[in-house]
Amino acid sequence: MDLKVKHLTVRLGQVRAVSGVSLSVRQGEIVAVFGANGSGKTTFLKAIAGLAPASEGRITYHGEDITPLPAHERVARGVYYVSDRARVALRMTVRENLDVGGYLRTSAQREISRQSVHDLFPVLRDKAGELAGVLSGGERQMLVVGRALMGNPSLLLFDEPFLGLSHEVRDRILAVLEGALKGKVTILLAEHDLGAALRVLDRYCIFLNGELLHLGKRSDVTDEERLRAVFRRFYQSGG
Ligand SMILES: Nc1ncnc2c1ncn2[C@@H]1O[C@H](COP(=O)(O)OP(=O)(O)OP(=O)(O)O)[C@@H](O)[C@H]1O
Ligand SMILES: [Mg+2]
Repeated sequence: MDLKVKHLTVRLGQVRAVSGVSLSVRQGEIVAVFGANGSGKTTFLKAIAGLAPASEGRITYHGEDITPLPAHERVARGVYYVSDRARVALRMTVRENLDVGGYLRTSAQREISRQSVHDLFPVLRDKAGELAGVLSGGERQMLVVGRALMGNPSLLLFDEPFLGLSHEVRDRILAVLEGALKGKVTILLAEHDLGAALRVLDRYCIFLNGELLHLGKRSDVTDEERLRAVFRRFYQSGG
């Protein structure tokens, strides 16, 4: 297993936002993280990225204990958190925004990544020289995803990437997850849109009150209705 989270607890003030969570993920696997508002999904992803403090537990990545490392040293190891509040720099061009995501890399590496991001999201090539401020909401979200890919991540922690998007843009991003990334980049996907996540996930977990209640795999849930039923079952019993 390439990512191993063991007994992770995150205390934020008086709140145990994440409580004794263990999860192991193989390289290239997509694991969806489901749970109601406030169940700890964001805090869990942030703790893996080094953006929320682990009070207890350990996170290892490719065999290395990364728990003590600050966020930027995790980025250097390929670990990227993409916030549900991610914004693009409106007064910078699309190309400059992309380059921000590759700031740790050489210009030659950035050039290669830029081409592959352009192939995934052609609109970012077409509008490379324009200010990000002129992009539509959907195009901005493609830029957010493209910017993360510019760092050549091996572990992407995606926090509700489909929030507020049209079906068309959502499907475009899903196609990228499923096509270019699945099997290569490890992805944890916190999502309220069960149906969208179901299209790409290999496994899923359900959070409630900071605890990981249930871990299931794709073959356990034939369709969205079945997934909803599992979700309701755990929420009604409260674990
Ligand atoms: N900075 C903070 N300080 C104190 N408590 C916080 C902080 N951020 C989050 N919390 C609390 O931690 C718990 C988990 O919140 P978190 O944002 O991780 O949930 P979530 O599952 O991502 O919710 P949502 O679906 O709304 O995004 C909640 O009780 C929340 O109120
Ligand atoms: Mg959240």
